[in-house]
Amino acid sequence: MILEISLHMNNKYTNLLAFDSENVWHPYTSMTDPLPTYLVDSANGVTINLASGENLTDGMSSWWAVIHGYNHPKLNKALIEQAKKVSHVMFGGLTHEPAIKLAQTLLEITPSSLSKVFFSDSGSVAVEVAIKMSLQYWHSKSSINGNKLTKTKLLTVKSGYHGDTFAAMAVCDPINGMHQLFESNLTQHYFAPEPKIAFGEQWNEDEMLELTAMFKLYHNELAAFIIEPIVQGAGGMRIYHPNYLLSCQALCKKYNVLFIVDEIATGFGRTGELFACDWNNITPDILCLGKALTGGYMTLAATLCSKDVADVISTGEANCFMHGPTFMANPLACAVANASLDLLLERNSGEYVNKTQKYTSNIWKNTTSYFNVKTIESYLQKKMVLLSKHKRVNDIRILGAIGIVESKQKVNMAIIQKRFVELGVWIRPFGQLIYIMPPFISTPADINKLINAIRTVLDEDSCFIN
Ligand SMILES: Cc1ncc(COP(=O)(O)O)c(C=O)c1O
Repeated sequence: MILEISLHMNNKYTNLLAFDSENVWHPYTSMTDPLPTYLVDSANGVTINLASGENLTDGMSSWWAVIHGYNHPKLNKALIEQAKKVSHVMFGGLTHEPAIKLAQTLLEITPSSLSKVFFSDSGSVAVEVAIKMSLQYWHSKSSINGNKLTKTKLLTVKSGYHGDTFAAMAVCDPINGMHQLFESNLTQHYFAPEPKIAFGEQWNEDEMLELTAMFKLYHNELAAFIIEPIVQGAGGMRIYHPNYLLSCQALCKKYNVLFIVDEIATGFGRTGELFACDWNNITPDILCLGKALTGGYMTLAATLCSKDVADVISTGEANCFMHGPTFMANPLACAVANASLDLLLERNSGEYVNKTQKYTSNIWKNTTSYFNVKTIESYLQKKMVLLSKHKRVNDIRILGAIGIVESKQKVNMAIIQKRFVELGVWIRPFGQLIYIMPPFISTPADINKLINAIRTVLDEDSCFIN
């Protein structure tokens, strides 16, 4: 009987996977020759349970998002409680407490330059909104002042990644980005060399020469400068010196260009500071948030901007900001984001409503999440660094709960992925990069398991392309 049930279950899973492989498109995947996918049954804490029976230690936080781990009782409760009240209402003409409370918290914990919040449904859309805000800002300025509109382009750095929608793609790395294919359909912007001086290296002002020259040359055309703070993620997993970001801010001020910071991957503690902006007290004009905003439970993003940006847009020709997604500020997503922030900041729900005082980095540095990120970082520094001696390794980069092994060869995705699953971990490399950004609740034993698995695959030729 037991054998019969298990055969029946196996059949069910085989059928599901066969349908998936035939009909369901996965990220960055071929439909004619799809890479294998693994069927998830459930997930709990740092463990992803496959339907086939394997239990995998998660090294990815589902792409930076699941910071508190899976199936968290407090996040589950927030969702259930909110679902009993209202799961969704349009945000045009209506508002609700979860969104208001979330906006209050975000303004309290982010840089002091920001005072308005625009909610949207994904990181890419948050970037679209940021770019649109910057373009509409200069459009409004020129209509108010009666000047010709010249500031319609963006400046960014190479090796960046800001999402997959068209405005976001147009500021991703133009060569090694995934979007070279669409070049002829993308707005052409300006690209400076990527930051070269790594986090922790000696700072040298010469680093800014080329970027400064571009600001000088093009500032009359520039609506905004956009950058990922400190960590360039999907564009190459590079970690750069905080002084670079500070100098970018100074250049934006000097040349009258809006400063957009994309914290979608780095926000909410991942780098060790609550926001990567906090490494050097950066005060952007526009800030993009997403991913870990809801603890990885729901898709939700936010674009925050300064009073000046909002005022200028609102007094220009259109009198309003021209954007409004159907699922803007979805109450379920906002409720779970509030619960996630309560966990992260160790505050009781409602404790901070109507308080205008800024959250300080001292408070963050007393939380369990901060302590956990620092513990993960020191463990990575102790153990992952040892992999730098491996003949296949080019570089090791570590910051907060992010550990990156850059190999000399590209990985063979199908084989390396299968090996990681056999080794009981979920790590999803790309190109030459094998990297982990585990949930903050990961223990040293979990991190050890992830590092050991990386060490094992580094020894296996079949996991790499020559
Ligand atoms: C820095 C950055 N910006 C934007 C995005 C796009 O976010 P989403 O995938 O939610 O659209 C990502 C996603 O990886 C990101 O890392």
